[in-house]
Amino acid sequence: MYETLCSPVNYGGLTLKNRIIFAPTSMGLPRQELLERMRAIAAGGCAMIIVGDVPVLPHGFGPSLYSRKGAEFYRQLVETVHGEGCKICAQLHQSDSDLKGMLRYVPGVLTGRISQAELRPLLNAQVGPYITGLPETKIQKITEAFGTAAERAVALGFDMVQVHGDRMCGSFSSTVFNHRTDAYGGSAENRARFAVEAVSAIRRRLPDLPIDYKLAVRQEDPHYGNAGVLESELPVFVPLLEQAGVTSFHVTLANHGDLGDTIPPKNHPAFGAQGCFLKFCDEVRALTTKPICGVGGLTDPDFVEAQLAAGRIHCAAMSRQLIADPAWPEKVRTGQADTIHRCVRCNKECLGGMMAHRGVHCIYEKTERKEHS
Ligand SMILES: Cc1cc2nc3c(=O)[nH]c(=O)nc-3n(C[C@H](O)[C@H](O)[C@H](O)COP(=O)(O)O)c2cc1C
Ligand code: SF4
Repeated sequence: MYETLCSPVNYGGLTLKNRIIFAPTSMGLPRQELLERMRAIAAGGCAMIIVGDVPVLPHGFGPSLYSRKGAEFYRQLVETVHGEGCKICAQLHQSDSDLKGMLRYVPGVLTGRISQAELRPLLNAQVGPYITGLPETKIQKITEAFGTAAERAVALGFDMVQVHGDRMCGSFSSTVFNHRTDAYGGSAENRARFAVEAVSAIRRRLPDLPIDYKLAVRQEDPHYGNAGVLESELPVFVPLLEQAGVTSFHVTLANHGDLGDTIPPKNHPAFGAQGCFLKFCDEVRALTTKPICGVGGLTDPDFVEAQLAAGRIHCAAMSRQLIADPAWPEKVRTGQADTIHRCVRCNKECLGGMMAHRGVHCIYEKTERKEHS
């Protein structure tokens, strides 16, 4: 019944056992708990886990690929996920927050004068001046670091890497933040240069590595997403990224607006429907023959199978649905789809948990605790 969904696919050079991918998701959990959550998601039958926000430079938030402790953690994570027969991909990212600029808000956050909701627009306001003023020597150091980080990730056992096309790649891509007048600003070709150089740095060092690109799309009319690539500029960006070495595209809405736009609740005015970002996949598919992964509000097995079978997408990535029920793929494969805990896209304990620094959880965990007590 779910023939396409359960069938293997060549995803940019990597064979996946089925079409379901755990979308990059920063969990904000202590390391041991994170390992257990990743084990559960891998054991639930998805084909690959994308580990969100792996920093490309030695310093950055989260475990570092460059420190002994960080490398040990990633190696353990890789072994845990592989042990369950699941592939693993590192989402390589560079933050576009100006660390020095952020410091001035620390007292306000610590004393509670600035809430998390108030902090985000303050940080977003710094992105433009930071990106526009970044010296070329620093830019080249960062783009090269994508190559070094990929080498390290592969040495630790990761099967592929994803270049995070939001964050710094996304803000360089966007006229909202990038007001440079040199080779990295102005035309769409120039604004693509940062991302192209980041991808090229990986391709130069690792000629055979599958490279996924999280393509963050900005929509006008109505306006959603600030970093990333305008729909009308996709015909420039997609071929350039492909020529640089991208082997697959993970397509979604661009960030730097409200987090509830890229992680939309069911009552979102524009993106409340299942498969809310698949229209961007359609636009990308017209520009490339590389495999495309859709994401955003994918929860219903029948709906997902229909999109895959129609060739609209090659893979379906899910974040919240696999948080709500890691066994979704296995239940679908074994004819138990009716027992799936359906993500209701309430954002209460996943995004809500992350924003409140409690870590990412789900409303179903309470139900399960009750059932087991
Ligand atoms: C708690 C949480 C953390 C996330 N962290 C990341 C991240 O680190 N990197 C990223 O690219 N996307 C991140 N996302 C976005 C997801 O990858 C995905 O695009 C989004 O949640 C929509 O998919 P869904 O409807 O299946 O949840 C996160 C989403 C959630 C809910
Ligand atoms: S808390 Fe709500 S939105 Fe988040 S994973 Fe659970 S059901 Fe889905």
